[in-house]
Amino acid sequence: MNPDFEQQILRLAQEFLDPSTSAGKPVAQLQPPRAVSKQMGLHDAIHQGVGREGTLRILKDYLDRTTRVRDPRFMAHQVAVPYPESAMGEMLHSLTNNGYGTYEMGPQAAALELELVDWFLQKIGWTQGSGLLTHGGSLANLTALLSARAATFPQAWQDGTPSQAIMLAPEVSHYSVQRSAAMLGLGTKQVWSIPVNDRGMVCPDGLDRLLQTAAAQGKQVMAVVANACATATGLFDPLPEIVALCKQYQVWLHVDGCHGASVLLSDKHRHLVVGIDGADSVSWDAHKLLGSSALCAAVLYREEVSAYRTFDQDESYLSSGAAGEELPFLRSVECTKSGLGMRLFMVLAVHGEQKLAADLERMFQNAQDLYQLMQQNPELEVAMQPQSNIVLFRPNVPNSAIEPIRRQLIDNGNAYLSAADFDGKRWLRACLMNPETGMNQFTSLSMEVLRLAKAVGTV
Ligand SMILES: Cc1ncc(COP(=O)(O)O)c(C=O)c1O
Repeated sequence: MNPDFEQQILRLAQEFLDPSTSAGKPVAQLQPPRAVSKQMGLHDAIHQGVGREGTLRILKDYLDRTTRVRDPRFMAHQVAVPYPESAMGEMLHSLTNNGYGTYEMGPQAAALELELVDWFLQKIGWTQGSGLLTHGGSLANLTALLSARAATFPQAWQDGTPSQAIMLAPEVSHYSVQRSAAMLGLGTKQVWSIPVNDRGMVCPDGLDRLLQTAAAQGKQVMAVVANACATATGLFDPLPEIVALCKQYQVWLHVDGCHGASVLLSDKHRHLVVGIDGADSVSWDAHKLLGSSALCAAVLYREEVSAYRTFDQDESYLSSGAAGEELPFLRSVECTKSGLGMRLFMVLAVHGEQKLAADLERMFQNAQDLYQLMQQNPELEVAMQPQSNIVLFRPNVPNSAIEPIRRQLIDNGNAYLSAADFDGKRWLRACLMNPETGMNQFTSLSMEVLRLAKAVGTV
């Protein structure tokens, strides 16, 4: 321990959080990682060590260069502007290092996880359910789909995934769905695209026909995946109709709620996921819309047994015969886990869920405001009215001009957007993760996008 050194690190953190330190700094500085490493002297620091003074210099440089998700001009990716308390909780977890693979390794982390899983379940409306925290939504999706396989093909653990197995998912699903299918032994031809409407949302009639076709061809559906909401567009699939069909055909329904399940906290937006309690499993990220540092996600099940069927392993070599919630690794892909619950616990305990609901409502309102502004401008096109905090818009330029415009925006340091393909076009994608973003940023953003579109000579 070196209290002076630790104090200096905390001072750096404090300075970083002080908005005046960031004033005038670019939102993001994107340079090739090898160049950054050279400029920061990372190679020497790693291979030879640079002592405390040298390390402090590198940390200061790291914070100086970092992408500023707290800056209201950050509108790029689905990461929360984390409450500082979330990070401080995480720091305490790292200091205690009571990782949670079994109850004994991290009794308090286990208690936090249990309570938080109950909180998630209660929000969905499940009283008999179960679940666990995972390092991210991709892992939550994989875990849920493994559970779907166990439920649909009880022999799969011994015999492998049968050749007639297929999965149904809309094409706009997050890539972790296709990757999970691959890890479960399904090729891309075994993941059938669910027909969607012109906004990429599941079309219930199309799903019905697909389920009939599957049965007629002797296929067995391992899972239907629905989005709440879709990554690129931020739109929600019609859950009540999908739930009804999955019940009718007796197939597992997984709702990927990584981004949008947090609407369950809001009286205003909960209607977007009405029916979610009819799913068999739900994945839900706290590090997207719940103010938590990455990562903190949950995989949740309507029925408790679903979680325990996933891995049909002889537990005697995993444990000494005990079972149940104190042995999360029986249900989890991971062995040792970080004490993930700390990140969300701190936000809920300090600020309360009403504050999170208010933050979410502000982000969603911001998306409506940006949509209105862009729509009023005849030189800009908006893909659709947003349902969440994601807005797709574009100046009237060829698809190939979108990326240069986006890069120039970032390099100018005045805004950071992502991009997405939708309906055969490339779009600028504003993901409004900061409740503080507002009209000031939107007005300068639209002006700068149009200026850049003209500069590339296409408007
Ligand atoms: C709908 C959806 N599902 C899953 C994921 C993956 O989540 P994570 O980045 O936590 O692995 C994302 C991430 O953007 C997403 O939008």
